[in-house]
Amino acid sequence: MKKSALIVGASRGLGLGLATEFLDRGWHVTATIRHEPAPSVFQKFSGQVAIEMLDINDLASVEAFLSRVTDQIFDVAFINAGISAPEGKTAETVTPEEMTHLFMTNAISPIRLGAKLCENIKPETGILAFMTSILGSVTLSGGAYAPLYCASKSALNQLTRSFVAGMKQNITVLSMHPGWVKTDMGGSGADIDVMTSAKGMVDVLEAKAGSGKHEYLDYRGKTIPW
Ligand SMILES: NC(=O)c1ccc[n+]([C@@H]2O[C@H](COP(=O)([O-])OP(=O)(O)OC[C@H]3O[C@@H](n4cnc5c(N)ncnc54)[C@H](OP(=O)(O)O)[C@@H]3O)[C@@H](O)[C@H]2O)c1
Repeated sequence: MKKSALIVGASRGLGLGLATEFLDRGWHVTATIRHEPAPSVFQKFSGQVAIEMLDINDLASVEAFLSRVTDQIFDVAFINAGISAPEGKTAETVTPEEMTHLFMTNAISPIRLGAKLCENIKPETGILAFMTSILGSVTLSGGAYAPLYCASKSALNQLTRSFVAGMKQNITVLSMHPGWVKTDMGGSGADIDVMTSAKGMVDVLEAKAGSGKHEYLDYRGKTIPW
């Protein structure tokens, strides 16, 4: 039987790269998007890919999505969706609405969805992955760069650790840093392209299946300090 991956936030960028890499490796992929049309690259994988509508911040959308996948078991569920902080804003200048949207998207909604998806992840060998960033590392804190985005990913990491501490399921949880990647978010001056990052992350996921640990890793499998 084909292995199966759920990629949340697969319309473009790293999510689309992850979905494409799993499809190229023969996996079945459930790819979530917020708006039609689905990326045209999925057309050549018909029968191997299912497209689902999902906005992780919209509770009705999350419940409807979960009800549609209730009987499905995934080898990997990768919650990739995320956003940048408002340009140039700091704790002194950000509005409550902007901060709420950033933290909901990057920290709260991923954990809330991940907690519900645990039942849909294959026991023993299954993996729940969250797309974080090295910028969320408190130890490696880069100083003044993007403080609100860094804080949102630190919050995601901390919430993931608390969630794992109380988790009942015997699965592997990975907090993944994709590298600095050329996407709408990463910009054209980033270090690596989407497929270099996606191939690296899928290699890491395949290698970590069954570890049963929670690790903070980059796309080459290198451990990042919390
Ligand atoms: N690029 C980098 O260098 C880099 C480095 C470290 C970490 N990351 C992280 O990697 C992830 C992907 O980043 P990217 O560079 O690929 O960014 P991107 O090109 O801007 O793509 C972001 C993806 O997230 C989706 N998304 C945003 N809000 C959502 C919501 N409320 N519900 C569902 N989907 C939502 C977007 O969907 P729409 O198309 O509908 O907007 C899109 O598919 C993010 O978590 C980001 O923080 C990126």
